[in-house]
Amino acid sequence: MSITFYEHSKTFRLDTRDSSYLMAISKYGDLLHLYYGDRIPDEDLSYLIELRDRGFSPNPHEAGNDRTFSLDFLPQEFSTSDSGDYRVESIGVRNADGSRIFAGKAAGHTIYSGKYKVPGMPSVRALEGEGTDTLEIRLKDAASGVSVVLYYGVFEEKNVITRAVRVVNEGEGPIRLEKLMSVTLDFKEANYDWITLDGRHMMERHPSRSAIRNGVQSVGSTRGSSSHQHNPFVILCEKTADEDRGRCYGCSFVYSGNFLAEAERDQYRQLRLNMGIHPTNFEFRLEPGEDFFSPEAVLAYSGNGLTGLSHIYHRLYRENLGTSPYRKLPRPVVINSWEAAYFDFDEEKLLNIARESLDMGVELFVLDDGWFGKRDDDCSGLGDWKVNRHKLKGGLSGLSEQIHEMGLKFGLWVEPEMVSEDSDLFREHPDWHLGIKGRPATRGRYQLVLDLSRKDVCDYIIDSLNRILDEARIEYIKWDLNRNITDVWSGQTDKERQGEVMHRYMLGLYRIMDEVILTHPDVLFCGCSGGGGRFDPAMLYYQPQIWCSDNTDAINRLKIQYGTSFVYPISSLEAHVSICPNHQTGRTVSLATRGIVASGGILGYELNSTVLDREEKELCRKQVEAYKENYALIADGDYYRLTSPFENHYVTAWQHVSANRTQALVSLVLTDTEGNDGQLYLKLKGLKKEAFYRINGDEERRYSGAVLMNAGLPIPGTLKQYEGIQFKLQQIMEGTL
Ligand code: DGJ
Repeated sequence: MSITFYEHSKTFRLDTRDSSYLMAISKYGDLLHLYYGDRIPDEDLSYLIELRDRGFSPNPHEAGNDRTFSLDFLPQEFSTSDSGDYRVESIGVRNADGSRIFAGKAAGHTIYSGKYKVPGMPSVRALEGEGTDTLEIRLKDAASGVSVVLYYGVFEEKNVITRAVRVVNEGEGPIRLEKLMSVTLDFKEANYDWITLDGRHMMERHPSRSAIRNGVQSVGSTRGSSSHQHNPFVILCEKTADEDRGRCYGCSFVYSGNFLAEAERDQYRQLRLNMGIHPTNFEFRLEPGEDFFSPEAVLAYSGNGLTGLSHIYHRLYRENLGTSPYRKLPRPVVINSWEAAYFDFDEEKLLNIARESLDMGVELFVLDDGWFGKRDDDCSGLGDWKVNRHKLKGGLSGLSEQIHEMGLKFGLWVEPEMVSEDSDLFREHPDWHLGIKGRPATRGRYQLVLDLSRKDVCDYIIDSLNRILDEARIEYIKWDLNRNITDVWSGQTDKERQGEVMHRYMLGLYRIMDEVILTHPDVLFCGCSGGGGRFDPAMLYYQPQIWCSDNTDAINRLKIQYGTSFVYPISSLEAHVSICPNHQTGRTVSLATRGIVASGGILGYELNSTVLDREEKELCRKQVEAYKENYALIADGDYYRLTSPFENHYVTAWQHVSANRTQALVSLVLTDTEGNDGQLYLKLKGLKKEAFYRINGDEERRYSGAVLMNAGLPIPGTLKQYEGIQFKLQQIMEGTL
């Protein structure tokens, strides 16, 4: 059992293989945080709680005349508002009497094997025989009757602790929840940097690192999705931490809607990290007896730098998120019609693209946007999930059959959460979208957002999608979302409960996904929101891969894929080779380099194969062959960021290493070059230092793992700007140096 409670010291101890997490109940019943970090011996850590009389730090009533006890500076597990802690709070609750206080005192706990459940929302799963334990701690505010249950899931072998919170109204009158963080993590010092993944449409998840400063700093989303702008993931790390060294803490949020990550350095140089649903336009009313569950947050600690932290998340999200059999299966190499044809296609054109891609070795043809309703551009048709017979004479089943006859599988694009005003659905149900009564709704990409807080709307989407999946042989669905949410108001919700609509939308979306995706385990679902606008663990629970970005420029992709890799596994990151000049940036990069970059994720193609010549198709075929040969290494191996495209302007390099470290694939792209430059070397990682390797099958030479990692591999000086190269390493013999 990884969880222990010591009655004499009222201490909880949570142990993973390499980390420990300790908390204690104070003499007045407050749940205090003692320690999170490297695994430590079983010691009484209560001496770490330092009590001191501090001016302007209020003392709880139960402390009597003891001025040394104040929640203003004590590290806590769940910070209460309006009771002397002025830092960012874990909960904001308007009680039945109008007060806004939660003075929660420990009121019992339970420890059990297995993982708690988060109803209605995706969460990380415990695998059979993996040794996952749960701790539930109940905090109760006797005066208001509000109870809070804190959940801790300990994944011992995976070095992960998950957190969730449940609020129960055990009082006599209704309460209003105004803020609820899924996790609060207090640190006694704030000498950390924080790293967030920021960006915009087409340039997602660029890591930014800054020192924690005094006061509150935050990132979040109020866009109704986890967003292109900030990802629901943050790292706190020592200032000296780098890829290989230093203490690093990760916090990842299993939710696809609005989120807030806030870090506060307080007056005593202490640090608090909070992560949860964004409080903006969030308010949940709980009648007596009702409860509210927060989404889950996933904490990980690495004492060995950022790579170690990424490896923890990669493994967890590869193995413990969702149930799709594709988590463990090689993903098909797709060719997608979007950049090949956009809206301008008919059956013949699609079949030609599919036919011409056969020589490239692709395995699945994806028909993107434009196949349904009246959809010749993005102004109309969304919501009418019936095939457009002008474009596809034989319907979806006819097209799918012909694609299958060629030996390819068939995939389809959908955007189920949206409606166009020019659609039969809108004409029939003009009240089904989110929109404030009496105000014209704000458009995004000419479209409106369906009100997924309504059951009837969700039922329509479930029926439409299940009908499509029954209608034709479909092995892959790309689930898109092409705008952010505005006008968060539902005609079916009382005015006092409008603050619930955004979260209820997410619950509706998860119900739809439960009833469509989980009931079709053989279909591979790929997430998408204008590329990577909803790249989060909750989406990965349903969809094991996500279209990483609408930007297919190989050089821009180096940065996007680099940032994404800090938390998300390579197997989740769909990447396509597209045509040049690139449609987003106008840049031209060789087909070989485009293949290397796209093979740094789940490889696919998105181009008009009918314009490729024989040599180009042959090159694609070789890329696919090499990629498939290395698939296990790429998708399941340990991933190392060898250089940062943000710091090293010359070379972006990465490496996949097999679990037993006998094989590795090194990929690099020269992003800039100078005349008469010096020799560049690439120091490899993750190899066995005592082993020898062959590179690219060259029988003439052997390379020592220790030398490759310490002195490096020379980068050929013949490489030109934007050229790339790959080295495949294979161990040949064990030995000592
Ligand atoms: C945005 C996606 O990211 C693109 O790949 C494409 O599917 C378009 N939507 C279609 O409208």
